[in-house]
Amino acid sequence: VVRPADVVEVAAVVTACRAHHVAIVPQGGNTGLVGGSVPHEGEVVLSTARLALVGEVDRAGMTVVAGAGATLARLQAAARASGVAFGVDLGARDTATVGGMVATNAGGLNVVRFGAMRAQVLGIEAVLGDGTLVRHLAGLRKDNTGYDLPGLLCGSEGTLGVVTAATLRLVPSYDEVATAMIGFESVAAAVRAGAALVSGLEALNAVEIMFDDGLALVAAHLGVALPPASRAPAVLLVEAAAAEDPTADLADAVASLDGCVAEPAVARSAADRDRLWRLREAHPEAAAALGVVVKLDVTVPLGAIPDLHRRVRAAVERLAPAATVLLYGHVGDGNTHVNVVGPGVDSDAIEDAVLAIVVELGGSISAEHGIGVAKRRWLPRARSAGDIAAFRAIKRALDPDGIMNPNVLLP
Ligand code: MLT
Ligand code: ZN
Repeated sequence: VVRPADVVEVAAVVTACRAHHVAIVPQGGNTGLVGGSVPHEGEVVLSTARLALVGEVDRAGMTVVAGAGATLARLQAAARASGVAFGVDLGARDTATVGGMVATNAGGLNVVRFGAMRAQVLGIEAVLGDGTLVRHLAGLRKDNTGYDLPGLLCGSEGTLGVVTAATLRLVPSYDEVATAMIGFESVAAAVRAGAALVSGLEALNAVEIMFDDGLALVAAHLGVALPPASRAPAVLLVEAAAAEDPTADLADAVASLDGCVAEPAVARSAADRDRLWRLREAHPEAAAALGVVVKLDVTVPLGAIPDLHRRVRAAVERLAPAATVLLYGHVGDGNTHVNVVGPGVDSDAIEDAVLAIVVELGGSISAEHGIGVAKRRWLPRARSAGDIAAFRAIKRALDPDGIMNPNVLLP
């Protein structure tokens, strides 16, 4: 494991590894879920932990330059201290780092409002696989001077180079927040409501979906009681944020939704809000407490979500009747997390079945977690031969010896 202190040292590491034909796995917070930052065959781990500087917030330009090793929580705190905010948030905020989030084009909870990482990166500094330093950090909103290197490196999962810093877009800080949990009679009703909120509630920051079986498991795991609103076949956690209190707007929007089964649980305090969010964010850990989890992260068109859920549950029932299935996700983005855990689970068979359903429904086999090692063999089912040939051509150009994360992304 090498821990370079600055971009010059990163370039020296890459050049030395290239000279000695040694592969490199860049590693940030190691919170990824597809094995993309894990060495598998004796690669050198290039830790970004020491590249953790967060620069001064540019209030006029609404940008900040952050080192790859800065955690999301530190970036968020720096933005907050300057009266602004960062547009991406996710449960792993205390550990996930800027470099890893750029390299995986992380999504999370607020994509519905601000987009994923790719939409935040205005400038990038990186060392490519051939040792070349690229640096264009000015962070201008208008800058039509050639290929979009931030766009290319976002989602490249360490296969083209090591991201060392990024200039990130900041967003206004909407301090007035309204949060509600709403129960629905069916998946279809919840999905229709999610779509209505996305198009009809301007201040919408997040709209997350959960189910009665998952919530019961989370409540038992945390040792907490569930609010009555969450005792429904499908449940949305909805959050609106604005400069002025959005509670009335949220209440109006909720009142116009069809298929609600009980009074919504509305957060009256920061503690209430944390309790509601904990029920959502603890889903992954509640699943992990049951054993080794087969994790899938898929998107389908919004209208196909009920079909996806029905078919996934049926497939798991057939393949591993004693297993537990947890479905949850970012419904506004069409993104479902499928977690399967328990006795008799053959991960290959489950992945095969679920991803085949997703492809049939016109979806993506990876919504926000990336391809990594775990989904690599599925890439040819998800992307055309032409796409993959272009990926390979880019890889060859920027990493001619194939030393950058060689077990990741490309089949
Ligand atoms: C989440 O939304 O909770 C994350 O993507 C993590 C996960 O699915 O395990
Ligand atoms: Zn997620």
